[in-house]
Amino acid sequence: MPFPLSRPARMAVLASGRGSNLQALLTAFPPGDPLGSVVLVISNRATAGALAIAEAHGVAARYIPCGRDRQGFEQAAAQALDQAGIDLICLAGFMRLLSPAFVERYAGRILNIHPSLLPVFPGLNAQQQALAAGVSVSGCTVHWVDAGVDSGPIVLQRQVPVIPDDTVETLSDRILNEEHRLYPEAVRLVLQGGIP
Ligand code: GRF
Repeated sequence: MPFPLSRPARMAVLASGRGSNLQALLTAFPPGDPLGSVVLVISNRATAGALAIAEAHGVAARYIPCGRDRQGFEQAAAQALDQAGIDLICLAGFMRLLSPAFVERYAGRILNIHPSLLPVFPGLNAQQQALAAGVSVSGCTVHWVDAGVDSGPIVLQRQVPVIPDDTVETLSDRILNEEHRLYPEAVRLVLQGGIP
């Protein structure tokens, strides 16, 4: 476990979409924060909101295409991560699976956030899965990334109620609200060395 570091951590966020969790991390860890800050954002989608958010904050933003060429994506991403001296990688709505080799290379240094109380409802459409299962409580999870799908060790979880008239949208919004608190909290804990 490389944390805590004796200097501010350099973090990268990998995101494919809107980037609201990226925004939450940028707000929680502004430049100059003694614990660390986000210095690189990588997206596999040229139009990802996350890239625009990074640029608006003056954070290096890299679009690296990832069609069927996952190996090419991972080589370019690893080069960017290593050049930037990244200590911690945060996946935030990153919609591609990382290869076992990539995960191994950054073992213990990749976090993900997922909109369910893992281990239930891994993979796509977690909120839809929760509604279909008829549960009365769902939530979000920050976990270490391993070679499986949303299967690595859990760092922190937060519950939210599922209410009778919920739609995928209302439940997703309620969970997302908690994600924006939980991810910075989990990253703080990790950087402080509070996770065994
Ligand atoms: C979040 O719900 C996250 O849990 C899931 O993808 C969504 C990303 O949202 N992995 P955003 O791009 O951070 O707004």
